[in-house]
Amino acid sequence: MTRDQNADQRGAKSEFNCINRRHFLLYGAGAVSTLALGSIFGSSSSFAGQAQFAQYPRKKIVGLSELKTDQPIEFLYPNDDPTYSKCLIVNIGERAGGGVGPAQNIVAFSGICTHMGGLLNKVYKPEHKAIGPCPSHLTTFDITRHGMVIAGHAVESLPQIVLEVEGNSIYATAVAGLIFGGPTNPGMMFR
Ligand code: FES
Repeated sequence: MTRDQNADQRGAKSEFNCINRRHFLLYGAGAVSTLALGSIFGSSSSFAGQAQFAQYPRKKIVGLSELKTDQPIEFLYPNDDPTYSKCLIVNIGERAGGGVGPAQNIVAFSGICTHMGGLLNKVYKPEHKAIGPCPSHLTTFDITRHGMVIAGHAVESLPQIVLEVEGNSIYATAVAGLIFGGPTNPGMMFR
């Protein structure tokens, strides 16, 4: 069996687990809005149109041509408060859940661990396409699978930043998941 076939098999199992987990956690969080985002996530993803998102004003993050494979860029979203809004965007070099760009390989996530708020901005692991281990208690998140927990103490996936591409620009438009630090995401808007 080839490496790709193995990855597909693992992916099928992980996607099933991830979606069930996300539904439980995201619906439990309560204060998030539901959007149909098939055009963003692509019709092949069962995540599209089913998950819940906290919608925020659209913000330009970076140009497509500025992103180099496996070299994350940090940014603030959904607001400019570094306590809550540290994020990172990265071209992981392979297709990812929620990925944008021509190869659907660009993803963005909160840089704050969902366990107890550890900072994750310097712990991207290109060899595993993962963020972690968290410097505090070692949680690691799979960013090919919407930030699901691979190992460690956290029980919630890493919030994924919903992205759109327009021309050469990448925009953030929403947050999928609850950012660590409060009962709702900051400054939440509803649709
Ligand atoms: S704060 Fe990240 S694992 Fe505890």
